Amino acid sequence: MNNNNIYTTFDKIKDRYAKEIYLKQQGKVIWFTGLSGSGKTTLASQLEKRLFELNYFCQILDGDNVRSGINKNLRFTEEDRMENIRRIAEVSKLFMNCGIILICSFISPTNEMRDLARSIIGDDDFLEVFVNTPLEVCEQRDPKGLYKKARAGEIPNFTGISSPFEHPEHPFIEVDNSNKDVDENVREMLLKIVPEIRWDPSGII
Ligand code: ADX
Repeated sequence: MNNNNIYTTFDKIKDRYAKEIYLKQQGKVIWFTGLSGSGKTTLASQLEKRLFELNYFCQILDGDNVRSGINKNLRFTEEDRMENIRRIAEVSKLFMNCGIILICSFISPTNEMRDLARSIIGDDDFLEVFVNTPLEVCEQRDPKGLYKKARAGEIPNFTGISSPFEHPEHPFIEVDNSNKDVDENVREMLLKIVPEIRWDPSGII
């Protein structure tokens, strides 16, 4: 039975496993969550650089970039944030089914939003990384000047100020960047991530 006259052809597309063999890696989604200014983008780009050096083929999807393109019609109401995350998760799944490793960096502030992403991508392929930088530190850094504007009432629904951020309950990795530098955090992340993305030829030989 088809829904609304839609006839999908997923079964005619060369399967993910064949593409993973070609790329010699396992497609996964590494999903960073955390407040604005917590360091998600810095960690994500440093992680991509290190993975690339190790011959892993990755793609970063990042909040401000995605919101200036495919999601430029969305704002920061709860409903629009859900739609933001839904589209990103669907796009991530398309990349992942090509064997690519996604590094997603979005505030994704509620359990409901992260659960939505997890359910679209699939539990086994969703590696949640919580960048647990306290609000006071993010606000003090304020790299884009947005906390100052939010405190002045110039930005509605600003995460941490006038819109909630719920801590993830069981993240795959939790990053505390208060007493470690970026390189050390990325090194620790790699130790957990590489076993998940490493190509295992034992299945085909
Ligand atoms: S999410 O909540 O829907 O996941 P997303 O990660 O895409 O957010 O976008 C967050 C980025 O948008 C922030 O890093 C910041 O630069 C910008 N931004 C603009 N307005 C807001 C707001 N009201 N709350 C949070 N971030 C905002």
